[in-house]
Amino acid sequence: MEIFTSISSWQNWRNVIPSTQNVGLVPTMGALHAGHQSLITRCRQDNDICTISLFVNPTQFNDENDLANYPNTFEADRKLCEAEGVDAIFFPDYSELYPDDYRYRVSENEVSPLLCGTHRPGHFDGVLSVVMKLLNLVRPQRAYFGEKDWQQLQLVKGMVEAFFMPLIIVGCPTVRDIDRLAISSRNLHLSKRHREKAARFPKILAAQAPAEEVARLLEADGFEVDYVQDFKGRRCAAIHCGGVRLIDNMPLYEGNQK
Ligand code: PAF
Repeated sequence: MEIFTSISSWQNWRNVIPSTQNVGLVPTMGALHAGHQSLITRCRQDNDICTISLFVNPTQFNDENDLANYPNTFEADRKLCEAEGVDAIFFPDYSELYPDDYRYRVSENEVSPLLCGTHRPGHFDGVLSVVMKLLNLVRPQRAYFGEKDWQQLQLVKGMVEAFFMPLIIVGCPTVRDIDRLAISSRNLHLSKRHREKAARFPKILAAQAPAEEVARLLEADGFEVDYVQDFKGRRCAAIHCGGVRLIDNMPLYEGNQK
């Protein structure tokens, strides 16, 4: 497995991959878990070469504490990638990826301000800008994103369409813990008590009731609710549990039948 920290060494490697070989990319911010593992597995199944990027993207954090507390687990991530058969890790730093210091950015103005965008101003500009950079550098035939970040997935698909980018965006199902909590690097910040309580979030979200009623049920259970909203066939929600912000979504009708 190759590890590249500079764009020039990455490009030297990328440029000699024959055009007959398909390249897949799993973009991540590190702190890899079972959700990322499932993206890597799918990427390996679909492509000749499986690449992953590890980059904690500061432009998508609107809260400095959130960025400062983001786990740095490079050694564990490297081991996981090696065990999962990843061919190459792209691990650049800010100055490599942002030579313009974020003077240029990609913005979307219809879906970005909704849902998570209402509570995290500028978040999706940061996400789309870094994803555009990564896709331009890696030039994959396919890139893999989790459905847990449903709004992000829709925005990335929209960007690829809008800019005629020659690749397929593959959305992969949310991976859940045994108690149905969606797996996220943020779960590591939950205390034991709040981790137990967080398991009630997906269960309440699946209630067969209007979104406003589900928001009330979550509040009544002691969660601080950012939003519960139906969007593109999904019921999407963000809540705070013990100071940790958690998001989830489920197919509207299937979820409501549970
Ligand atoms: O979903 C994530 O981990 C990030 O938003 C992404 C897509 C890697 C961009 O930094």
